[in-house]
Amino acid sequence: MTLTNQQLTSIAQEFGTPVYVYHADTITQQYNNLTTAFSGQDVKIFYACKALTNINILKHFLKLGSNVDCSSINEVKLALHAGFPPARVLYTSNGIGFEEIEEAQSLGVHINIDSLSNLKKFGDKFGHSYPVGVRLRPNIMAGGNLKISTGHDKSKFGIPIDQIEELLTIIKETNLFIQGLHIHTGSEIKDVDVFIKGIEVLFDIIPLFKELAFIDLGGGFKVPYKKGDHETDITLLAKKVGEAFANHPNPNGKHLQVWFEPGKYLVSGAGYLVTQVNVLKETNAIHFVSVNSGFNHLIRPMFYDAYHNITNISNCEGEEKHYAVVGNICETDTFAWDRKLPEVREGDFLVFANAGAYGFEMSSNFNSRFKPAEVLVKENSFHLIRRRDIFEDLLKNQIEVL
Ligand code: LLP
Repeated sequence: MTLTNQQLTSIAQEFGTPVYVYHADTITQQYNNLTTAFSGQDVKIFYACKALTNINILKHFLKLGSNVDCSSINEVKLALHAGFPPARVLYTSNGIGFEEIEEAQSLGVHINIDSLSNLKKFGDKFGHSYPVGVRLRPNIMAGGNLKISTGHDKSKFGIPIDQIEELLTIIKETNLFIQGLHIHTGSEIKDVDVFIKGIEVLFDIIPLFKELAFIDLGGGFKVPYKKGDHETDITLLAKKVGEAFANHPNPNGKHLQVWFEPGKYLVSGAGYLVTQVNVLKETNAIHFVSVNSGFNHLIRPMFYDAYHNITNISNCEGEEKHYAVVGNICETDTFAWDRKLPEVREGDFLVFANAGAYGFEMSSNFNSRFKPAEVLVKENSFHLIRRRDIFEDLLKNQIEVL
């Protein structure tokens, strides 16, 4: 399910470029894929909204019946603002100050705590009165690249599984109510056995937590970025997760729900960044195409060497040539070094695919350029859901003292 070149061209003409465009139906389809795969199992999906927090996207997930996973107190507040009841909001924290955890507690949302230090403070203050989850580091290496691997034995995330004794002591001494165990090994995990390995690490310790109600396996499903690319086989994952739990009934007799926190899987393919070609520069070695965007708008190629498919929607039938597609900011901001595209002319619209996750969300005002507008396509209507920055936005938080 994709948007057509005609739709993307109309949006570029109507709202200008660069513009992020999201397709609501694609999000719905991805969400339904997950819930269908896990139907028959007691699984809850928490959309990892760090991927894309536009309030309309959050409201769309609310309507779909999804829950939401947050990575800052402000994401928690955005989710509540969108209308999520606290019981459908999860705050999986990482390295945060205790005040933020207290604030999340006062808002009544689920909290996964990721350090012994904060767990102790939480236990000292709330004892058994407020159930929490524990974010563990399973010491498993997984994920598309080191920058997005979070479960390995040198990762900052979670309480190392080898500190289980210290963890148990704190729980006992402060009478904590542990309702969940959480792991998230990384992003872009195509091998479903990584999740099963994670579950097996947890099976060893589940008997130690008598009040457990859920196991949270995080997110990280791999999406395809180009034709023939691997993606996580969700049906197989569901089958193996079901089997793993069936083979390991909780010795405490309590039923365990399984939670997931996918971000990319739900929104990556639903998003496009539509740019326009500013200049062509032909050199002996390389033909540069410079678009009116850069890593200030889509940082993934420069930050992770991520591949984003690029199409020239203004000249689909043109003769194919090799180009370096670059941005317009004052730094090396290469989107693609050597990309075959139908002949590119100045003024053409170039579209970056898989821009729904960690696209707009990781954008900045570097070079004092404006952040792009965002448009939602829903039932064939185009809705502007964030206006492009204007010059006043660049000054609005500055205090002129000179
Ligand atoms: N849960 C936790 C605790 C996480 O840390 C993350 C992502 C997710 C869920 C969602 O992971 P996903 O399903 O989206 O892979 N900016 C990087 C990805 C960083 C992911 C950080 N944590 C990128 O653009 O590739």
